[in-house]
Amino acid sequence: MKKTIRDFNLRGKRVLIRADFNVPLDKNLNITDDNRIRATLPTIQYALDQGANVVLMSHLGRPEGKPVSSMSLSPVSKRLSELLHRKVIQCSDCVGQRVKEELSELGKETSVAVLENLRFHAQEEKNDPVFSKDLSQNGEIYVNDAFGSSHRAHASIEGVTKYLPAGAGFLLEKEIEYLGEAIQKPKKPFVAILGGSKVSDKIGVVENLISKVDKIIIGGAMAFTFFKAQGKNIGTSRFEKDKLDLANDILKQAKAKNVEIILPIDNLVVQKFDESAPSKIADGGNFPDGWEGVDIGPKTAALYAKVLEDAKTVVWNGPMGVFEMKPFAKGSLAVAEKLAEITRKGAVTIVGGGDTAACVIGFGLADKMTHISTGGGASLEYLEGKPLPGIVALQDK
Ligand code: 3PG
Repeated sequence: MKKTIRDFNLRGKRVLIRADFNVPLDKNLNITDDNRIRATLPTIQYALDQGANVVLMSHLGRPEGKPVSSMSLSPVSKRLSELLHRKVIQCSDCVGQRVKEELSELGKETSVAVLENLRFHAQEEKNDPVFSKDLSQNGEIYVNDAFGSSHRAHASIEGVTKYLPAGAGFLLEKEIEYLGEAIQKPKKPFVAILGGSKVSDKIGVVENLISKVDKIIIGGAMAFTFFKAQGKNIGTSRFEKDKLDLANDILKQAKAKNVEIILPIDNLVVQKFDESAPSKIADGGNFPDGWEGVDIGPKTAALYAKVLEDAKTVVWNGPMGVFEMKPFAKGSLAVAEKLAEITRKGAVTIVGGGDTAACVIGFGLADKMTHISTGGGASLEYLEGKPLPGIVALQDK
């Protein structure tokens, strides 16, 4: 058990919170999805209510060790200020004398400051000890609430814990609780739904979950690699040529473990990768030459809904089709709606991965799931059973 923010006396202290404010911005630097900011509010609010000054730090994008103005955390500070209804100090950097001076304003007009993008310094990703120590000087207690970044052994995630008392924030705690519980003590039947484009992205998850789940539903372009491996016709659909043996191996492993792998029985196929191109339904793995799969078909959606009907725990990672294009979103919508229904009846449903979360949020069904993870890569690594450096580094209770 790791310490959490509740285990520290925060009164009058400066709390350094690592958040994952790596949010999408449009070309005018407007935040297009502020869920990661909202998800950290309970931790920030708790620290403020306890009488602490709060210093937030995060990366945004991949500026590769140098300042890039389009990756400044300013839009995040602005949004945070609106959400908290209070002034937020946006610091000019994340370490150094000027930052010290900026932070000395805390406790006057406001108690919240945001450091500038950590990845403007190459030492962040190198987990440099001097940089970690410099970062630690921005607070007296460290709280990691950045689940989405906890698979990175970076200075603000791992190194900094060597210099400050360190515990988990509420978001990190919640992510560990839901994802951890699902994997370690799932209520059965336990069904995993895996989609997205690549088998290679999900192989670690399959290998870890295969001894825990009862069934694995496969959708997305991933399914086409399985079809191809079985010698079926997938027309011009995308697949991973170098993963055909792997796909066969997964099918064999599943059989040996008595885990049913369920592939699409029909797919929506198009003549050209375009929303308005001619489309039709083809049998799974029997696509006409020159056509490519872009979604699961209606029979598959009904089959998957039937499989999910009795599930008590479901982990979903990877959409069923190209959901970003409305005509190809029906399969993902059908799965999301079924999950909403079984959640209502008491099943535990966990959605992970940036795309899948965006898809469920886009359908307006986010609050109908038990938990939507804020982690992309981090939730995959967690489901793979890998220890996340950001969690390991926190103090034990
Ligand atoms: C994410 O968006 O998955 C996290 O913020 C981590 O970002 P990274 O992949 O650039 O480390």
